[in-house]
Amino acid sequence: MNISFSSFYNSFPFLIFAVFMEGKKPIVMSGIRPTGFLHLGNYFGAIRNYVRMQDEFECFFMVADLHSLTTHPDTRHLKANVHRVLAENIACGLDPEKAALYCQSHVYETSELYLYLNMLAYKGELEKTATFKDKVRLQPENVNAGLLTYPVLQAADIILHRASLVPVGKDQEQHLEMARNFVNRFNHRYGDVFPEPQAFNYSEQLVKVPSLDGTGKMSKSENQMATLYLADTDDMIRKKVMKAKTDMGPSEPNSEKPDYIENLFLLMKLVSGNDVINKFENDYKNCHIRYGDMKKQLAEDMVNFISPIRGRVEDILGDEIYLKQVMEVGAEKARKSAKATMLLVRESMGLKYF
Ligand code: TRP
Repeated sequence: MNISFSSFYNSFPFLIFAVFMEGKKPIVMSGIRPTGFLHLGNYFGAIRNYVRMQDEFECFFMVADLHSLTTHPDTRHLKANVHRVLAENIACGLDPEKAALYCQSHVYETSELYLYLNMLAYKGELEKTATFKDKVRLQPENVNAGLLTYPVLQAADIILHRASLVPVGKDQEQHLEMARNFVNRFNHRYGDVFPEPQAFNYSEQLVKVPSLDGTGKMSKSENQMATLYLADTDDMIRKKVMKAKTDMGPSEPNSEKPDYIENLFLLMKLVSGNDVINKFENDYKNCHIRYGDMKKQLAEDMVNFISPIRGRVEDILGDEIYLKQVMEVGAEKARKSAKATMLLVRESMGLKYF
């Protein structure tokens, strides 16, 4: 189930929830794997929403470095990747003073809760998980137990803070459903400790960022020339945008746009001003459109959008003392919340002998 912002606030369960919370903000938790560079799809699909949430909720945003060990056992580049993902998120507006921004491996309580939850997770359901089956296909030489219990670790991340709202994309819904199952089994067996976590996004902001080759969305792994990364240089951005597919233009007024042209307009709506968009919409309607000009404009607007972010990322990456401080402050906040939960967990499980 995906709860949209407005319907969530208007819903009866929320009202009851709100009364019980007595003015306390709902808790939001999400994780980001430190595998690769962030792109425009990550920005408009996720990070921009996190930035808004940090003002409205109590937020925990975590770099899932332990999860990355299930697929990337070679840790040579882990430090650089963790630094980059932190720097990119901060450069996009995540504020380490507002949200808890931390690394999974800095919060040892995660591993303890993961162990307890493993006793409540069944081999059959883990083997049926879509992401597990994908990984078995992708890395048949390394089907490790961590891969099998990946959703258990993810559930531990979330419920460690007793979070109820999890901003994630569609690909994570099955993991969330499993987290709800583990929560229900735990609560049923040992007493009510955890709320059921739900997928959560601002419905009006669920934008898909189309790729530049007219097929699908921008993504980490697929066609890199069709994806704009926050780390791309100005020239690379221009090159990628200018290569986007177009055609001879419409031959009749008010024609429908083919997908790849619609996508260019969608990208323009993310970064260009209204006057620019209106001009090219009109040119399209009147069959005057010059796609070369449109792409040049889009490229410049993309450069103006991405290059300040890229600059901030570079500044942050150059300041290891600041990054260390961010990780320490984040871990401190996360551990405080984790410790309180684990006291409840051990007590309710009967792991208390004196
Ligand atoms: N599995 C998530 C992904 O691949 C990352 C993740 C790890 C996560 N722990 C989480 C997401 C907790 C939400 C909540 O994107």
